[in-house]
Amino acid sequence: MPGLPRPAQDTTALVTGASAGIGAEIARVLAARGLGAALVARRRERLEELAGELSGQHGIRAEVLPCDLTDPDARRELPDRVKELGLDVDLLVNNAGFGTAGPFHKSDVDQEVQQVRILIEAVVDLTGRFVPAMVERRRGAILNVASTAGFSPLPNMAGYSAAKSWARSFSASLHVELKRYDIAVTALCPGPVETEFFDVAGETPIEHVVPKFAWVDVEQVARDAVSALERNKVEVIPGRAMSAIVGASKMTPREVALPLLGRFFR
Ligand SMILES: NC(=O)c1ccc[n+]([C@@H]2O[C@H](COP(=O)([O-])OP(=O)(O)OC[C@H]3O[C@@H](n4cnc5c(N)ncnc54)[C@H](OP(=O)(O)O)[C@@H]3O)[C@@H](O)[C@H]2O)c1
Repeated sequence: MPGLPRPAQDTTALVTGASAGIGAEIARVLAARGLGAALVARRRERLEELAGELSGQHGIRAEVLPCDLTDPDARRELPDRVKELGLDVDLLVNNAGFGTAGPFHKSDVDQEVQQVRILIEAVVDLTGRFVPAMVERRRGAILNVASTAGFSPLPNMAGYSAAKSWARSFSASLHVELKRYDIAVTALCPGPVETEFFDVAGETPIEHVVPKFAWVDVEQVARDAVSALERNKVEVIPGRAMSAIVGASKMTPREVALPLLGRFFR
């Protein structure tokens, strides 16, 4: 039965975007379960600080792999960097990302393209590089961080919502494809979470539209993510309120929902 890989000396959980927010918290939950971590992001000092915390508190092996995941050459080197450490990636957490907001015609096109690189290109690339070995070993797991923004087109967050919709779709297909190789694949779909995401994105419609009671804390997001992966759920939405909002939106016809979203997502 696919699920969370067992901890072992020579395996690791590679977590992208581990220098902050959801990625750092997922690494903490995995370390508490005894899983070693290979921490990836651009800010080396943040990764080193977390690696020290994880190995100190949980006695696991934590390695840091600073990398700009929008750079295809840097990504290509990651599997060899992991191999040089004598590790196999048994669990891949595709979490790194940022979001853009605002009318698309006023957007910074370079930022929009970078967003596609980190939220789509890097996920395809890393999954493609690490999954074949998991299939060969018939053991492994993948956690893809999507978003509730991926359940519907969001005017004024066009690029971000489309990328997260892609993540849900990619993840669900792999969930089915990889089950027979005992590989678990889960898409984590959080609603808003208080992290550095909103500092990077600047003002987004999300803060104005989603009521505060529906926001979920980062610790719960990470716990729910790992527990869903353990049960090989196809996807998980942390928090009852956000699940109910998504449930209601699924029952609303697109021709009704889109103009409403256009009015609220400004
Ligand atoms: N917060 C929310 O409300 C929310 C809701 C749903 C989904 N999500 C998704 O959750 C994921 C994590 O977001 P978060 O909320 O934890 O935001 P965050 O606190 O801003 O963390 C983002 C992480 O991504 C890394 N990152 C960004 N660009 C990178 C690059 N070019 N190369 C390598 N790493 C990069 C950052 O590290 P460096 O800056 O050190 O590189 C950081 O570790 C994202 O995919 C986001 O879309 C967030």
